[in-house]
Amino acid sequence: MLSVKSVDLKKTKIDTLAVPVCEDKNIFKNAGLKSAVKKALSLKEFNAEKDETVSLYDFSEIKARRMIFMGLGKYETIDLESLRKMAGKSVKSCIRQEPASLWFAVPEVRINGLETSEVLKAMQEGAFLGNHLFDKYKGRKEKKALKKINFQVTASVAAKLRPISKKVAAVCGGTTLARDWINIPANDKTPEKWTRSIVSRARKQGLKIRVLNEARLKQKKMGALLAVAAGSQSKPNLVILEHRVPGAQKTLALVGKGVTFDSGGLNIKTGNSMVTMKSDMSGAAAVVATLISAAKTRPKINLIGAIPIVENMVSGKATRPGDIIRSYNGKTIEIGNTDAEGRLILIDAMSYVVKTYKPQYLVDVATLTGACVVALGEKMAGVFSNDENLSAAVIAAGEKTYERCWRMPLPDDYKELLKSDFADMRNIGSTRWGGAIAAALFLSEFTADTPWAHIDIAGPAYSTKPNAYCGAGGTGFGVRLLSELINQLGS
Ligand code: BES
Ligand code: ZN
Ligand code: ZN
Repeated sequence: MLSVKSVDLKKTKIDTLAVPVCEDKNIFKNAGLKSAVKKALSLKEFNAEKDETVSLYDFSEIKARRMIFMGLGKYETIDLESLRKMAGKSVKSCIRQEPASLWFAVPEVRINGLETSEVLKAMQEGAFLGNHLFDKYKGRKEKKALKKINFQVTASVAAKLRPISKKVAAVCGGTTLARDWINIPANDKTPEKWTRSIVSRARKQGLKIRVLNEARLKQKKMGALLAVAAGSQSKPNLVILEHRVPGAQKTLALVGKGVTFDSGGLNIKTGNSMVTMKSDMSGAAAVVATLISAAKTRPKINLIGAIPIVENMVSGKATRPGDIIRSYNGKTIEIGNTDAEGRLILIDAMSYVVKTYKPQYLVDVATLTGACVVALGEKMAGVFSNDENLSAAVIAAGEKTYERCWRMPLPDDYKELLKSDFADMRNIGSTRWGGAIAAALFLSEFTADTPWAHIDIAGPAYSTKPNAYCGAGGTGFGVRLLSELINQLGS
């Protein structure tokens, strides 16, 4: 879909050319583009302020049918995210009008210290992600995604920049895969169905796959995972994917919460809080999609992806509040609330992965608590970690990808909140305050000293409103973040 080109804009007939424009600096050297930008800026209605756009037709010096000028605002304010947004918006405006092709003019100077390669990468990310549609369930498809998006660069740098497209497509293709999975309704992605879909994707990419089915989970005594699955008609699985690299020194294990639907269980969710709970597998979707992307980009680090997949439902067989279960690592847990199910499936997957693969790093991603959304809002994830270097790497990856992460505390004395009168622990805290921390502390009991980071994505995983490069629904948050983290840890 993405390709880097170098053509003579004066001679080549193209449909739409998107041109990013700065308010206060010319960022093109090409004579045709320079004078086109000048002409656009001479129009009263266009000052190149952020989010401003204007179209020009039949401009003699460039053979595009239409040029859309995209305001970037002031030069010093431009960063990777404003470039992604600009590109996403350009694509979205073309999807509506179905042009034959879309071209982007890539700035020919360093912008604010950003190399052309970084500028191009951000533009490609915004364009790729903005081109994603989820219309599987629509009888009449109103919009069509663009087949090809071209990036016009100066001839001398084209060869150097060409490999970027493939990497962006691999990683952002992971993001859109995660979005699709999140958007599929729970009736079409029961644990059994979704497992099949994951296995078929992973197999195509050559990942090593193991599926622990219900019988195996019983055999291994994964009592916490099984307790959550007990109320559902669909049987649970623990899917393990592996990306192995000969000679790699380190192993990163990724664990993702895969609750295909969270009704709350017997502590049933009330009001509107259940309606988006098909998205409670967003952490698992991010982990699987990251491994699938990694199989294409081949980072030099061993990766394990562990995805516990269950549905949290009500029935005569459902786990009750007050029940006591035994987790895989032997600790007993009193169920204080059946809606605190994510942490139960995660601890069995985490302790299994730690014991079996002895990874150097452990990262879990989960739509774990409403409390984290209260703390940080809908656009940022909370990071809880027992390791300074790992948490710094996660936060740095978040800055780079704009999948923002904010460090949260793991105060030892709060562990008291998880005490049970009858079992080793309770799955909820004794107070509703600090719920995201209580959940993270609960997980911390199952990491066995492995450097670990827990990323609570309950806020950013799903959005009921579209933005510059994402439609309403699953955002695929976590795939670009984890892929960047893998780059950092693997180099
Ligand atoms: N899946 C939810 C968390 C969630 C809330 C995700 C909102 C996305 C948006 C989780 O399983 C849950 O229900 N957590 C409870 C925990 C409580 C019972 C201790 C919560 O946050 O209320
Ligand atoms: Zn829940
Ligand atoms: Zn949940």
